[in-house]
Amino acid sequence: MDRNKKIYIAGHRGMAGSAIWRKLSGAGYTNLLGRTSGELDLRDRIAVNRFFEEEGPEVVILAAAKVGGIWANNEFPYEFLIHNLQIQNNVIDAAHSYGIKKFIFLGSSCIFPKYSPQPIKEEYLLSGELEPTNQWYSLAKIAGIKACEALRRQYQKDFICLMPTNLYGPGDNFDLKTSHVLPAMLRKFHEAKGRDHAPVKLWGTGSPMREFMHVDDLASAVLFCLEHQLEETIYNVGTGKDLRIDELAVMIQQITGHSGEILWDASKPDGTPRKLLDVEKLKNKGWQAGIALEEGIKQTYKWYQESV
Ligand SMILES: NC(=O)c1ccc[n+]([C@@H]2O[C@H](COP(=O)([O-])OP(=O)(O)OC[C@H]3O[C@@H](n4cnc5c(N)ncnc54)[C@H](OP(=O)(O)O)[C@@H]3O)[C@@H](O)[C@H]2O)c1
Repeated sequence: MDRNKKIYIAGHRGMAGSAIWRKLSGAGYTNLLGRTSGELDLRDRIAVNRFFEEEGPEVVILAAAKVGGIWANNEFPYEFLIHNLQIQNNVIDAAHSYGIKKFIFLGSSCIFPKYSPQPIKEEYLLSGELEPTNQWYSLAKIAGIKACEALRRQYQKDFICLMPTNLYGPGDNFDLKTSHVLPAMLRKFHEAKGRDHAPVKLWGTGSPMREFMHVDDLASAVLFCLEHQLEETIYNVGTGKDLRIDELAVMIQQITGHSGEILWDASKPDGTPRKLLDVEKLKNKGWQAGIALEEGIKQTYKWYQESV
């Protein structure tokens, strides 16, 4: 791909968007375009069309969304459904109308059925019930994927949807109410260490299995997809390895240097019992994740201590 192409990264200040920006800049892409939500609210269709008209991006990466963990999804179902639908509809339709040749949409592994066979293949989409706690967010993402699929089928557009597994890394959200499990644990163990190694209370039983990928690996997958012609619409992006949540807790406890007790609050929901992506499809095209979990968490903890 021509490195002077104008590439719009929607959500360029977010964890994923900023990692993609860093990766593309590092790879020599010089014409990157970003707008904060204050400058351009992607829920505003007229403003989005005006932006495409005035700026004329040639490639679009949609990494803007309303994102959050179980608590936030449960608390704000309407916003998770409607804001995400509005953002995607506006950006995907503008990309179609303004003749964008290459479009990358970030979905999420939670679009797959709660009781999918493991590891989860792309074709399991819509083969069973969704996890109820984040169904609002998942349904919006599924609508975005279907819009991209329809554009590929009807208009032969090179629109790709990447389904990343749980992400972590620099720029993550460490707010205990709205964050995902890994950054929430990092903060809890870090703060408990500072309170004389007080016990750390965690949600659920600790038994669910989860996969985690460093956001720089997602950015490398996005770069790979930009630079390769892929025939299909949906590709899982993950490490292909998972671990139990209580194993993750012990790993983070050791990395932060906390030596107190870990308490599990089984009255809180566990969510899907296991969620491991099958990553063979993108691997067969030539891409795979490269950052080991322990190394990635150590780097993220360093970033947290320096930045948050
Ligand atoms: N985090 C994960 O574990 C994970 C896992 C799988 C998939 N994903 C997907 O990756 C994408 C990015 O997630 P993330 O973790 O990077 O989220 P994030 O850190 O919360 O960033 C979200 C970005 O979306 C922008 N945004 C939100 N509402 C907007 C609006 N109305 N108008 C314009 N921009 C808006 C925000 O812009 P401002 O900063 O300017 O407000 C922010 O930059 C999402 O599609 C998500 O579904 C994330």
